[in-house]
Amino acid sequence: MKRSENYEARITQMLSEMTVEEKIAQMQQISYEGYRPEVFERFRKLGAGSFLHVLGRDAEAMRSEAKQAGKTIPPIFGIDAIHGHSLLNGAVIFPSQLAAACTWNPALVKEMGKVTAREVNADGLDWVFSPVLCIGRDTRWGRVDETFGEDPYLVGTLAAAITEGYEEDGLVAACLKHYIGYGEATGARDAYDTEISMRKIRETFLPPFRRAVEAGASTVMTAYGSVSGVPMTAHRKLLREVLKGELGFDGFVVTDWYNVASLRTKQRAVESYADGVRTTIEAGNDMSMNSYPFYDHAVRMVKEGVIPMTLIDDAVRRILRVKFSLGLFDGEKKRLPREVIGSREHVEVNRKLTRESLVLLKNNGVLPLTEKHPRIAVIGPNADDIRAQYGDWTFFSHPDKAPDDCVPESDFYTVLRGIREVFDGSEIIYEKGCDVMEESDDRMMARAIAAATFSDVAVVVIGDCLAQNGETKDRSDLTLSGRQQELVAHLKKTGTPVIVVLVNGKPLCLGDVVHHADAVIEMFNGGDLGGLCVAEMIAGRFNPSGKLPISFPRTSGQVPCYYNTYPGWHGGKYMDAEETRLFDFGFGLSYTTYEYSDLTLSRDTVRAGDVLTVSVNVTNTGEMDGYETVEMYENDLYSSVLTPERQLCGFKKVFVRAGETVRVELPLAVNDLALVNAEEKTVVEPGQFEILVGGGLHQLLSVMLTVEP
Ligand code: BGC
Repeated sequence: MKRSENYEARITQMLSEMTVEEKIAQMQQISYEGYRPEVFERFRKLGAGSFLHVLGRDAEAMRSEAKQAGKTIPPIFGIDAIHGHSLLNGAVIFPSQLAAACTWNPALVKEMGKVTAREVNADGLDWVFSPVLCIGRDTRWGRVDETFGEDPYLVGTLAAAITEGYEEDGLVAACLKHYIGYGEATGARDAYDTEISMRKIRETFLPPFRRAVEAGASTVMTAYGSVSGVPMTAHRKLLREVLKGELGFDGFVVTDWYNVASLRTKQRAVESYADGVRTTIEAGNDMSMNSYPFYDHAVRMVKEGVIPMTLIDDAVRRILRVKFSLGLFDGEKKRLPREVIGSREHVEVNRKLTRESLVLLKNNGVLPLTEKHPRIAVIGPNADDIRAQYGDWTFFSHPDKAPDDCVPESDFYTVLRGIREVFDGSEIIYEKGCDVMEESDDRMMARAIAAATFSDVAVVVIGDCLAQNGETKDRSDLTLSGRQQELVAHLKKTGTPVIVVLVNGKPLCLGDVVHHADAVIEMFNGGDLGGLCVAEMIAGRFNPSGKLPISFPRTSGQVPCYYNTYPGWHGGKYMDAEETRLFDFGFGLSYTTYEYSDLTLSRDTVRAGDVLTVSVNVTNTGEMDGYETVEMYENDLYSSVLTPERQLCGFKKVFVRAGETVRVELPLAVNDLALVNAEEKTVVEPGQFEILVGGGLHQLLSVMLTVEP
């Protein structure tokens, strides 16, 4: 967000007039009323700087109450608006971040941010705890659905886009999380230790934060875990020196849920609560999410001189800076009317994004279904389960507002509803077949087999469910659970063409499913319109263009299996499994085919600081117009530290008409070819670089680039 210098003098004045209590109150965030009513009540009266998970109407009431009570600094209300303002029933629910990443379309992802910002703002809130910048490499981790996938370049590009979308219009503040390395916990156990060297942090995990900070992010949330033994909430070097110093981040840092208290109770890094408070403030946290004894300890320690006032003033200045930028003071706040929530324009953005998020993983020619199919069987546990389709972080899981019988107020489509609507001339038979996790009975299976036998085509929707995704839902086994594989095997035997649709939070190990299926479509968590867009895609109403932002393992033992590993010895083989990935990062089919030719560089000898243009021809050799994502990778042939054999360094999505050729130009900054050397310095090392361009890792043309000293 644009921060005006004009506020700084005013903030200085305010700081000189505020009491210690008022300052520390600004640094305290308290969660919604139902969680700890007595704590909520106390801080509501006292005037905490921030509340979380309060929904709009309550926020409005609290704001006016604070004003009437003579509080001059309004609270900032934060919410987990992770894929849309999704904790509010009735708001537009977008596909998950992982699904959105399949679009490889930063402009659309930015639009998703804008729509979310508008809906959050119209609901009376100010701050979204999004985007997630964790890197989804160990897919056993429960929160992979919240990431933009496994590649730091793609994550950084999309994170910058959505941050701009959130912040550009000054409606809400974004929160980059979780700083840093949270997804790398050993054994993928949420919030356990991560052994990442500072060199690796700088090479892989920091760049997305840098991009999103440059895009104007106002806040950052610390991770639960630790990096090389130091809890992230206590990591002075990474918070003060790197984030606030090197990256020049001028917004504020909020801890995650109870991080201050957990320093003692869980991580045993301090001996007392008070020590935890001092440590986190010294390390560079500006606001404490919950851990409400923070307030009393901090007030006392500041008064006793244990915590210097300069640190407090810096933290409060950062918080006030964001509040001013949002226009929270003096009734300057722009509030959009509530009617924008779920509006037609917003649903339209969702439709565009959802269409581009679908990835066609296999097609033996059965798709698109252009001929008439009098009878279609829709089968599978996720064919008509909107909770599984939404995935995590929707009103179904709002900690305070989610009654069990809650029904979505938006016009949502499961695959069953989508197929019914798009194929309205066909008879649609629905059978669940089996459950996602439970050992369902044989009669369910038999009915599904009969339905497929007497149909012209079977659309089979399988995957995972909410119990298998999200925070604390890490898996040790990624195999498609329950009897789902058996279901697909039985359906294959009927001879009816089988179209598998995957509705899941993350790549699963699919066993024989791909082999048995005639076509496979990956939806991930598709939001309100996933089911409609899948049906439209099956009907050929648009040409699929999604590509995977994450690799698919064949077996759980292969995980992590991201593409951009360093070179190794002995071929990286297993003695008991195939070492290749089932589907690669960057993979995705379309109803047409593309050929790449004539890869050239505007200059083949360059120096650090130069920018060159990489050009390639893309020909649509099929019969349908389509969008194609051109992927560009680099390979530093010889380097002082190991570097990936393939590293994404650019991409562009282009429209190519059937039979036509377009020349695509991609800018390449030589500085983006830098590595982080053993001394932790980011440098471009002279030498030979291979530049590779194409439609996926197995379809790349290459050309050599020389970087001179
Ligand atoms: C999660 C954060 C989230 C916060 C508030 C934590 O448990 O790790 O991502 O923003 O709760 O809901």
